[in-house]
Amino acid sequence: MKKILLVDDDQNVLQSFKRAFRPLHREWKVVLSDNGKSAFQLIEADDSFDLIISDLRMNGLNGIDLLQKVKKTSPDTIRFSLTGSTESSLLIEAASVSHRLISKPCEGDMIVALIRNSFLLREKLENPKVRQNLYRLGVIPSLPKFYQEFCKEIQSPDASVAKLGMIIEKDIGMTAKMLQLVNSAFFGFSKKVTNPLHAATLIGINGMRDIFLAVGFFNAFEENDFPKTLDIEGIWQHSLITANKARKIAVSEGLSQDDIDTSYTAGLLHDLGIIALAATNRADYEKVIDLAQNESIPLHQAEKRVLAVDHATVGGFILNLWGLPHAISEIVTFHCSPPGDPSLKSTPLSIVYAADMLAAQESLSPLEKGEERI
Ligand SMILES: [Fe+2]
Ligand SMILES: [Fe+2]
Repeated sequence: MKKILLVDDDQNVLQSFKRAFRPLHREWKVVLSDNGKSAFQLIEADDSFDLIISDLRMNGLNGIDLLQKVKKTSPDTIRFSLTGSTESSLLIEAASVSHRLISKPCEGDMIVALIRNSFLLREKLENPKVRQNLYRLGVIPSLPKFYQEFCKEIQSPDASVAKLGMIIEKDIGMTAKMLQLVNSAFFGFSKKVTNPLHAATLIGINGMRDIFLAVGFFNAFEENDFPKTLDIEGIWQHSLITANKARKIAVSEGLSQDDIDTSYTAGLLHDLGIIALAATNRADYEKVIDLAQNESIPLHQAEKRVLAVDHATVGGFILNLWGLPHAISEIVTFHCSPPGDPSLKSTPLSIVYAADMLAAQESLSPLEKGEERI
């Protein structure tokens, strides 16, 4: 039976969730808590909670601090935050400590569907160490060069959202995090946002300043964060080439603007799982690279043998957990082996698949050359 901890200082909210979860009492055990401190004591006494949903503004231990503590002490617990506030600085902080942001009031059915989805997703990652490391990962680190460009632009007196958006759309980590934020329930858009430039416009210049000031929302990687044998800059270069090629092909095939945006963004994010796996399982990823090199096998096969999961599944897992549009997480999940014959129909998935192949052939980096051989 799955265990869920629900924390809110408003009794009405607790009772309404209790009603929504009642039909599921055979599958889910729901524990209620009306303050952060006692919620944390429950977690400390029993770290087997599968999921926590916490209100952000509470007296005593607030939701951000509670979720931060849970992130450290209970890495296998999925973290959702809940608030009625629309203050961008609070939402940005919440996105750094929680996997999903949910706005109040929210429908019981919606929250049940989100929880179900997170539990299904969890089953895809059998290796508990890998899964816990990924749950802990708050951000995909950015290429230092792009992060510095962002910092420089936001601090300039004539900073513009358009210029910031153009920097963000080149970076894997910043794009993923921006799309997590704008696609959270807080922004209330009925349509999912797939274009990072559009996301930047929606957040606005003040929101961008809040992002700059927030700790850990964007984060540049450091030299020692990855195995030395991994050409990390090569991954950015390959991803950007894939994204640009995918956009070009989608335009020439006459796809809708939505599908063009999806093709670009999925192209940019398709290898995000490599970065996530290598950043969170450094020593094991060194073994992956050695194995791929020694046996001349594709990277995704070596990942499966060492870590029991490949970067495509991991990338799709993170984007799905963070609530990015399904069209994007699905392409990322299947980019190594799309179902059916990808040459039969021009869809964003078949386009990203083709763009990935073309980019790998011309990439300067030895990584991913020819079906991701090293
Ligand atoms: Fe890949
Ligand atoms: Fe690739």
